[in-house]
Order: sequence, then C-alpha cells, then structure tokens
Amino acid sequence: MQITVLPGDGIGPEVTAEAIRVVAAICKAGSIDFDYSIETIGGSALRGLGDALPEITVSRCLKSDAVLLGAVGDPEFDKNPRERRPEAGLLRLRSALGGFANLRPATAIAALADSSPLRPEVFAGTDLLIVRELLGGLYFGWPRGRKADEAFNTMRYRRSEIERCARIAFQAARIRKKRLTSVDKANVLEVSQLWREAVSRLSEEEFPDITVEHMYVDTCAMHLVTTPSRFDVILTENLFGDILSDEAAVLTGSLGMLASATIGGKVGLFEPVHGSAPEIAGKGVANPIGAIASAAMMFRYAFKNVAAAVAIEDAIADALSDGLRTTDIAAGGESVCTETMGREIADRAAARFLASRGNAASL
Ligand code: IPM
Ligand code: MN
Repeated sequence: MQITVLPGDGIGPEVTAEAIRVVAAICKAGSIDFDYSIETIGGSALRGLGDALPEITVSRCLKSDAVLLGAVGDPEFDKNPRERRPEAGLLRLRSALGGFANLRPATAIAALADSSPLRPEVFAGTDLLIVRELLGGLYFGWPRGRKADEAFNTMRYRRSEIERCARIAFQAARIRKKRLTSVDKANVLEVSQLWREAVSRLSEEEFPDITVEHMYVDTCAMHLVTTPSRFDVILTENLFGDILSDEAAVLTGSLGMLASATIGGKVGLFEPVHGSAPEIAGKGVANPIGAIASAAMMFRYAFKNVAAAVAIEDAIADALSDGLRTTDIAAGGESVCTETMGREIADRAAARFLASRGNAASL
C-alpha cells in the first residue's frame, strides 16, 4: 500500500512522524508492503511554493491508497485573503479527494477520567460517532463574497448531498447501537428543513431498523455536556459538525486524542481533529494519539484491515493504562514527550498485532 503523508503546519510534522512510526511497526510485524511519500500542504506549502495546495500534492494523493494528514494552519498567514490562507489548501484537498463523510468518534477512556472537564459519572459510558458532512454547507456554498463592510456566505445543500452522507451515518449506526441523532436548525433555516425531510425519508425507505431523532444544534451542544452518553451516531452538516466535534473531543480529556476519517471519495483522508497548535509546535510536547488513532482508522476504512486497526487502538489504551501521558492529559503529573508516546504505542501495537495473527493462525 502507498500512503501520501501531509505533515502540514505547527505540530503536524511531530504527530504524523509518530503515526508513521506506528504504521511502519504494524506493517513490519505483519509483513505488509508499505511505502509512503511526504508532500506539502498549508502554510508550509505557501511559504515554500506560494500555494497552499501544490499540484504535485494533489496528484500524489490521488495516486495513493490513503492520505494521512497532520494539521493545517499558521498565524503568519492570518491576514491573508481566504484563498491564500493555509486552510484553503485543506479545503481544496478535501474537495479534490471527494470524501463527503467525515467520521469523528469520541469515546470515554476510563484512564483519562481526571482530564475530562466533565464529572466522571457524567462522561462515563460515552461512545459516540459524529458523522460530519464535509463538502457542502457554508464552507463551499455559492454565492459568497466580501466587500469592505459587508460579507456573505451561503448554506446550500442538495437532497442528494444530504442523502449520501446520511446513508453512511445510518450504516454506521447499524453496526453500533442502532440510534441516530440528526442535528439541524430546522426552526430557523430552510436548508435544515430539507435536511430533516431527507433524513426522515431515508430512514423510512432504507433504514427502518434504526431509531432516529432530530435535534436542534443548540440543544445538541447542551446535551453533549449534560448527557453525552445518550448519543450513538450524530449526523450533521459541515459547520455544525466542525463545532460539535471540537466540543465532543475536548470532553474525552484532550482535543489531542481525537481521530477522523473522511470517506466516500476517490481516496480516503485520515487526520486528527486537533489543529496545528502553533504555540506548542516544535517543543516535543504535542499529543500524537489523535494522529495515531487516525492511522488506525486508515487501516480500518482504507485497507479493510480491522485487526491492524484494533491492534493500534488497543495499544493506545494499553499505553494510557500503563500511565503514559503527554502534558495535555497529565493533569499536572508526570509526562512523556511526543516521540516517547509514539514509540511506546508502536511497540505495543506491533506486539498486539503479532499476537492477534498468532491467535488467528492457531484457530
Ligand atoms: C477541522 C478544522 C478545519 C475545518 C479547518 C482547519 C479548515 O477545524 O478539520 O475541523 O474547519 O474543517
Ligand atoms: Mn474543526
């Protein structure tokens, strides 16, 4: 398999290096052929090549089996017009790869109960999956524009765009707890009324076995902090999903923990939910777990190698229950650097993967 790695900006290079370390360890343990090339995106590409998404990056990504991305965003370009900001590179990449469903799981980890802003009894048992529509809504809608003292964006969805993303959310619910919460703002927005109608119709016609509830986005934001364990799959449009997934992520103890997979397009895109965190970049303190868990999602969704994905996920859990912590999840206690966390997880993942293959062989 051929992976294109896009380290990007800020802590992106540090955390993707650890994700690659884990991928390499798994591939070595399982004698899986694997090769990767590193390309530029975001601020680092703007600085070097004057373009946040150079053509060579797009063509390499389109020729690979999966894309693993670090983070994009650099304050140096904050004042640039939209098209010349690092984020524009990421949005163009998303649209070039074509993945429209962005899966962002958030699960309570008992070992991190102390780092969550919620009381342990409130967060315990939370295991939810946000399915964020990634190619529509305000991020991509036209018309959009900016004059000196006036600016506008358009939230626009076609029924077909809602349906294709909803289908992925329903399918995910089918192999989970069979509950789907569709989040919108149908009390105010026409686009949300269409969203609600499209999801309801799909539910009746194709997914009668899934329990659906519709919820306004403000209510959802509230329930996420009061009763997060009530959710299974949350389906929502692009901007609502962006906001709710940061909220869900931080509940787990740190934004640094959360992974994402973007599927449905030509090539899958796997990236942690966190940003480039320029304030801690280059210090070796970033948490690589979000990036490593994104590599696990890559094995699951792009390579259909569930055993490898599970080995990585279990290795993360093992490292945490063995007491390893980066600063963000150390609650003031002892911590290890980014690289140590990566090495510790890589060793555990390889051992787990070998053991699972041994078990499979002896069955
Ligand atoms: C995310 C990020 C991006 C987004 C930014 C960097 C464009 O916040 O992946 O959640 O808004 O989608
Ligand atoms: Mn975001």
